Amino acid sequence: MKRNAVAIPDWWDAVLRRVLELPDFDGRTLQRFVPPLEQLSEHLNAVDERSGRPSLYMHKRLLRETYLLYYSTANLLKPLWVLDQLWPEGPPPGPAPLRVLDLGCGPGTGIAALHVWTQRHPEGRPLLVKGIDASEANASLYRQVGDAIGAITGISIPCDVRQGDAARPPGEAASHDLVMALNLLNEIPEKKHAAFLSRCEELLVPGGVLLLVEPALRLTSRVLLRLRDHAVAEGWNVRVPCFRQADCPALVSEKDWCHHDLPWERPQHIAWLDEVVGNVKRSLKFSCLVLRKGGMDVPDTISSEDEGKTAPQAEPQAAPRLRVVSELFVEKGRTWCHCCGEEGRRVYQRNHRDRSGDNADFDRCVRYDTLAVEGAEARLHDVRITAESTVRLLSRSIVDSTNIG
Ligand SMILES: C[S@@+](CC[C@H](N)C(=O)[O-])C[C@H]1O[C@@H](n2cnc3c(N)ncnc32)[C@H](O)[C@@H]1O
Repeated sequence: MKRNAVAIPDWWDAVLRRVLELPDFDGRTLQRFVPPLEQLSEHLNAVDERSGRPSLYMHKRLLRETYLLYYSTANLLKPLWVLDQLWPEGPPPGPAPLRVLDLGCGPGTGIAALHVWTQRHPEGRPLLVKGIDASEANASLYRQVGDAIGAITGISIPCDVRQGDAARPPGEAASHDLVMALNLLNEIPEKKHAAFLSRCEELLVPGGVLLLVEPALRLTSRVLLRLRDHAVAEGWNVRVPCFRQADCPALVSEKDWCHHDLPWERPQHIAWLDEVVGNVKRSLKFSCLVLRKGGMDVPDTISSEDEGKTAPQAEPQAAPRLRVVSELFVEKGRTWCHCCGEEGRRVYQRNHRDRSGDNADFDRCVRYDTLAVEGAEARLHDVRITAESTVRLLSRSIVDSTNIG
């Protein structure tokens, strides 16, 4: 098992077998998914060519089923990390069910993710889910997946899934606590993103949150970052992954983007398909963004808030939090990585001779961990961690596997 890797819940295999009517996950059974997976992979990676145009790739049954088998399996754990960052204690307390809107819901990724989330927090507030997808066939598959999870786990989440336009989602004002759009934005032309954001704002209760996940491709990730900056200008507050509200520093250079890279236990059927098709889903890469409208002065009607909980220390934060936004590079004389925080995106580096007990946490950090660095020397091109500096790892970038199915 990989260190800190998260595994999909045990019940997911049974759900896939039931919905897709698979006797097993042997090569002979999986073989028929190979050509559609090749087609889907090619399509989904060609973001340049489709540049935000909605596609009809899910209108064939075998493509939809392959998406569920392969992509939903890989995608369902991604929003969990984001939800954990936002609400470490699980669904925030409240008098009524937490109303979730899953936009561009596809064939069932979101409902699977929400099941895992609630199962990890059995005392948490119940959920009420609405889903919207351009394809009625996807909506129907989503319902089947929700029903199958309920039948297999014995826990059901009410969900109402309909065909509709997720770029202009229907619904009453202030009717949802959480709007999520997983891998949808790249299928909506960028010129429509501002209107999409305004519509989400209308649908959310004050203090409600918008959770976006996108592929970790440079192009799609940068589009998300541009939406982030637009949202901040419109008065939204960025909750995840940034510790800074000012303009995103990754947008300064065309080369940069921002994404997570979550270790996972790749299920055997994914490994088999990867081998045959030539994909490499060894980890879960994604870009994400959580926005909350109203700023910090708006009373939190739905959130238990995470401030201080991601950082276990109870004492006031002396040093501002930093997000590690690259790998950690260990070179001949030094160790370095990119970190992003209030001061922007900077190279943090430590010469090997400056390693000390107080800064040893720097050796352990990986992408998307949260750090606090004190006593470092800010220079023109980097920030030098000296022998006297303190580096504290405040939270790991992993999903805790406890209570996953
Ligand atoms: C890449 S899939 C993502 C599915 C699922 N959310 C996930 O993360 O695995 C994108 C989904 O968005 C849907 N979609 C694209 N444009 C849409 C639109 N304007 N309105 C509603 N659904 C849309 C597609 O039908 C497809 O199911």
